[in-house]
Amino acid sequence: MTSTPRWPDIDGIAYGGDYSPEQWSPETWREDVALMREAGVNLVSIGIFSWALLETSEGVFDFSWLDEVVELLHANGIRIDMGTPTASPPAWFFANHPDARVITRDGVVMGFGSRGMASHSAPAYREAAVRIATELAKRYGQHPAVVLWHVHNEFGVPVGEDYSPHAVREWRLWLQRRYGSLDALNKAWGTAFWGQHYTDWEHVGAPAAAPSTVNPAQRLDYARFTDHQLRACFIAERDAIRAHSDRPVTTNFMANQHNGCDLWAWAREVDIVSDDHYLWAADEEGEIGLAIAADLTRSVGGGAPWILMEHSTSAVNWQPRNVAKRPGEMARNSLSHLGRGADGILFFQWRASRSGAEKFHSAMLPHAGTDSRVWREVVDLGAKLGRLGDVRGSRVHADVAILWDFESFWAQDLEWRPSEDVSHDERIRAYYERLWRDGITVDFALPGHDLSGYKLVIAPAQYMLSRTDADNLNRYVEAGGTLLVSFFSAVVDEHDAVHEGGFGAPLEPALGVRVEEHLPMREGATGAIDWNGTVVPVDVWQEDLVVTGAEVRATYVAGPAAGEPAVTRHAHGAGTGWYVSTRPDAAGLAAIMGAVYADAGLAPAQLPAGVEVIRRHGEHHDFVVAINHGPDAASIAVDGVDLLTGDEIKGMLNLTGGTAAVIRTEAQHTPH
Ligand code: GLA
Repeated sequence: MTSTPRWPDIDGIAYGGDYSPEQWSPETWREDVALMREAGVNLVSIGIFSWALLETSEGVFDFSWLDEVVELLHANGIRIDMGTPTASPPAWFFANHPDARVITRDGVVMGFGSRGMASHSAPAYREAAVRIATELAKRYGQHPAVVLWHVHNEFGVPVGEDYSPHAVREWRLWLQRRYGSLDALNKAWGTAFWGQHYTDWEHVGAPAAAPSTVNPAQRLDYARFTDHQLRACFIAERDAIRAHSDRPVTTNFMANQHNGCDLWAWAREVDIVSDDHYLWAADEEGEIGLAIAADLTRSVGGGAPWILMEHSTSAVNWQPRNVAKRPGEMARNSLSHLGRGADGILFFQWRASRSGAEKFHSAMLPHAGTDSRVWREVVDLGAKLGRLGDVRGSRVHADVAILWDFESFWAQDLEWRPSEDVSHDERIRAYYERLWRDGITVDFALPGHDLSGYKLVIAPAQYMLSRTDADNLNRYVEAGGTLLVSFFSAVVDEHDAVHEGGFGAPLEPALGVRVEEHLPMREGATGAIDWNGTVVPVDVWQEDLVVTGAEVRATYVAGPAAGEPAVTRHAHGAGTGWYVSTRPDAAGLAAIMGAVYADAGLAPAQLPAGVEVIRRHGEHHDFVVAINHGPDAASIAVDGVDLLTGDEIKGMLNLTGGTAAVIRTEAQHTPH
């Protein structure tokens, strides 16, 4: 995608959700559209799971009911995001094409009665998916109500990797294209280890369950292959649609959910980025996880506005404990997404399902009906978003980038790593959380990106780093950037092979330090470092560092590396490279970050606890989205007009606990 998305033809902020009319009678449809209007809904996604009712047997189509729904929505001024139903092939498909079923890594052939696509590599599935997408595009591609296409649903879940014979055949072809020769493959995978040397392409299998740990380079490539195959399914449907429709095409991502899709590559293929996000109930500050997902979604789309395709009005149904949202939380969540670049706020789903696996999932129209808190808040949110049309198209600017590299995560998540306590999600969250509390907006980036516009780049979890990408980071620092690298980074190259020169060697120019040995800690064990005379507790990990030029800023005082350097700072060219070789507690991390901010020329925003403030830059105005997640009243300094209330704000905005405001204010200059 370019950073100018093709926005669907819709006025203002998009508002609505997944709509499943196939689960309801035509009388209910009429009630639905009347209530959608009451709630200010202007966009619904339909048809996502309707394949069995649209193609009733192979090649036999019945669009009559969908025609009626489309006309009803159109007559009521509600725009349509038309789904292709390929995430849930009908029973007849699997009866006719049993070979198109997915086989798991353990050899289990997936059954029917749930959802989840067939084998991404089965020719029968590809043909059938393109056929139904083509028929839909021919029929509705120019319909005035259809403004967006929603291909499939959440590629990569519930099934990503497939070990069927179709997949294995395609895998060999993919490997031949990637490596050209068996010699190159043997070298890349390090097959001399455990006698895995290949002499014939036909002997190269998928990395299915085996007696012991399977070659990690092979598994990493299988993850890449799976991502490629899933994307090929998307592209086939997208192109089938484009042959008959000029409307933008999207597919709903799952940023931050690790569904096996490299969203940097996916974002280049869609006309507009869209994302699904659900709070983790166990996370008591779910708004921080939400912010990570939203910033990641914006970043993969090159900073352009995006659509929140799904979130929930209240509880979901698939977590161990499905905690309901409390009053005001749905609006706060929605405005956080909006503040971080979403120009569409949609939900799963419009009307709660009575039957099936998701009947305990909340909806815009809950089981309790319209005399309910959720419905009243849905109507209120629709009214609020209706006042925010001016925000549309404005952009978020960030001075800080955190590296987010899906391929590195796939590699790190394989077996037999030094410690199961080392988690990329946890480290990213820790650094992001500090920045969130300091009111500093973050983009995510790949290590190979042009990072020159950022004052600070953080690599909290860059286990895999190619020499080329490392050189990019070294050059970033040399040119004046501030780089912070956390432990267990730059360990392996793109084939999951340890870097020559040892752990961290490719970043030695920027960091002035190398890692001689990893010192993972026992479960529950704690150590400490001395940071400017303060003892900071650390756990999980320490390292034996070899300092080759850096200044030592903190030393281990307890734990396996006691007496050795723990945190270093290196002047390289015009910039600075920080290395943090352990996991400090939150207060310790805050202290270290204070020093890093000073190097980077960043100033924390001094916000009251629990208050989130994000700025969107428009052509004529800026928009400050301020959200008070805490229970107590809080104030922030801002001038302008509160678009939700119409009130003029002179100098100070007061937010009661749990509320949010969107202030139109004077445009600020942004450096890039
Ligand atoms: C996902 C799916 C939806 C629904 C929701 C429930 O995001 O795309 O179809 O299952 O989860 O939370």
